[in-house]
Amino acid sequence: MYETLKTDLIASLSGTVLEIGAGTGRNFPHLSPGAEWIGLEPDRRLHAKLQASASRHARPNPRILPARAESIPLADESVDAVVSTVVLCSVDDQSTALAEVSRVLRPGGRLVFFEHVAAPRGTWTRRLQRAWAPFSRRFDRGCDPVRDTASAIERAEFAFVEFRRFAMPTGLGPTVPFIAGYARR
Ligand SMILES: C[S@@+](CC[C@H](N)C(=O)[O-])C[C@H]1O[C@@H](n2cnc3c(N)ncnc32)[C@H](O)[C@@H]1O
Repeated sequence: MYETLKTDLIASLSGTVLEIGAGTGRNFPHLSPGAEWIGLEPDRRLHAKLQASASRHARPNPRILPARAESIPLADESVDAVVSTVVLCSVDDQSTALAEVSRVLRPGGRLVFFEHVAAPRGTWTRRLQRAWAPFSRRFDRGCDPVRDTASAIERAEFAFVEFRRFAMPTGLGPTVPFIAGYARR
């Protein structure tokens, strides 16, 4: 069900699609064949895998930008859509990154997101997230599990935001709160 949510969000995109924090290219299977993909990935150690994944999915010459979402090396209003899956937990500055996403999107373009977020205050999940945060920040590429990413997106420069919340099973007992949806510029 959760993979279907992500698939539907990404598959709906067309034109020039910028994926921030593209990682090893796990989203290529969801992308429409007609979309022109640009990947932004600051960790150069992942570029070879990203390149290989692109080739496996019929994208032999992908444009990969070694940059952070806080400073996107693209012109204003130059892309039709932006994809962010499990990235806004890791960026150094969410509001700067979201301002950059809004800047590069053409008017009417969409940011689609699929992100884990902080559990409500006072819950056991939130306590677990807070206890885990120092480790994930240090050992999981800066990932901060206690971010209120939904509010950050709602505060950013988008005309309309729609998303749903759900609990992703981990198989270990506690679930992880997620949001999935889109923000229109
Ligand atoms: C958990 S991985 C997710 C990768 C991919 N989006 C996925 O769903 O499989 C987080 C990614 O965000 C990238 N990242 C970390 N800080 C970033 C930043 N400031 N701007 C853009 N990407 C960043 C990491 O290098 C990593 O590839």
